[in-house]
Amino acid sequence: MTPAGRAAAAIELLASIAAGADPADIIITEYFRRRRYAGSGDRRAVRESVYEVLRNLALFKWRVGEAGGDSSDARAWLIAVFATGDTGDLAAIFSGGQFGPAPLNDDEGAMVERLRTQASTPPPRWVRLNCPEWLLERFDRAFPQTSDAEVDALNSLAPVDLRVNSLRSTREKVQAFLLEEGHAVMATPLSPTGLRAQGWLPLANTKAFKDGLVEIQDESSQLLASVVNAQPGERVADLCAGAGGKTLALAAMMKNKGEIIAADVSASRLRRMTPRLQRAGVTIAHTTTIEASALADAIEPVDRVLIDAPCTGTGAWRRHPEARWHLTPERLAEDVATQLGLLRDGARLLRPGGWLIYATCSLLPEENEEQAAAFLNDHPEFQRVPAEQYLSDDQLTATGLGADGDLHLSPARNDTDGVFAVVFEKAA
Ligand SMILES: C[S@@+](CC[C@H](N)C(=O)[O-])C[C@H]1O[C@@H](n2cnc3c(N)ncnc32)[C@H](O)[C@@H]1O
Repeated sequence: MTPAGRAAAAIELLASIAAGADPADIIITEYFRRRRYAGSGDRRAVRESVYEVLRNLALFKWRVGEAGGDSSDARAWLIAVFATGDTGDLAAIFSGGQFGPAPLNDDEGAMVERLRTQASTPPPRWVRLNCPEWLLERFDRAFPQTSDAEVDALNSLAPVDLRVNSLRSTREKVQAFLLEEGHAVMATPLSPTGLRAQGWLPLANTKAFKDGLVEIQDESSQLLASVVNAQPGERVADLCAGAGGKTLALAAMMKNKGEIIAADVSASRLRRMTPRLQRAGVTIAHTTTIEASALADAIEPVDRVLIDAPCTGTGAWRRHPEARWHLTPERLAEDVATQLGLLRDGARLLRPGGWLIYATCSLLPEENEEQAAAFLNDHPEFQRVPAEQYLSDDQLTATGLGADGDLHLSPARNDTDGVFAVVFEKAA
């Protein structure tokens, strides 16, 4: 593809992503699946320029609007990229050549003129932080002293974290195998099974992956297995198991002994778990679409219930920078209501003395601390388990958590996704 062809592809993709039907990574993968002529270099270049815009979308929209353009127009965002940066020659890209974008019209030409000459006014806070204004108040509540740093870190690039499958190998061995294949990775600080690559890593092509030694998983998600603390031989209900990221980590921690009931309302996500279980050599997990509300009548009480709850995903914005613009107060309210129902149903599944682990990849108080407080208020038979009972001293120090706290991780403090987890014990 020519540079102009890549720019045209980026505009097309940004317009689809802004329409919001699917996450950006899925839209991009699907786009190139239908365009086999694009080489790997083209794909990477287009992907990078799309994400560059998405990570700074508020600023591009604001600049375009200030310069009199249409701030909702993906083409205008890319014009602003070329007009204000050193990415390439605007006139050469928008020349109307074959496969490239059409030449600038008069309005766009005037916008470029203003973008280049207008004295720049300082952008407002929500633009600077690339965060919808209605959410800033919530981040301020979650982080009264440090919300700017916390929100800003959500715009950074996430590392690629891997979880070593301890059923099949060790961290040191997998690190060496990957190096043999030309991929340098280093041990992560919080998870004993974690490896981290800075930048791009085509994991699916590696032998280590094909042999089931390693999976992609953010370190914060790996740490959730420690929080659940399931022992070999126990029975665990993973109520929102999805495609099985946590199920796999739990099974490895349980040394593939015991039982994991992996439930989810989405049959298609559960189906994606099956080959992953096989590759990893996990035999103790079985999947079910029985709703959490009906599960208590279908299974014997379990030792642990994990609710890896559906949530706004604000803690994972580094990986899905577009998601912030698709979130609405209504969607947040729906998630909070679903979480409340799952907590209520999960509580019924536990044996006396069992642990209920509630987790989100959100940083918003109504999905985290406020949800935990409401649960304890409505369920006096439960009490909070302090972090020192499930994290080691080293993990407590490395995470910066107090021994008495819950799990709170964030990109700003831990270079992980933003994750919250709290553990409740049912009275014996
Ligand atoms: C955060 S994701 C889980 C990710 C998964 N645990 C993993 O580690 O890969 C949340 C999951 O909750 C599921 N879900 C949404 N509403 C649900 C409900 N009412 N009951 C059970 N699962 C639900 C979604 O289908 C989704 O797979």
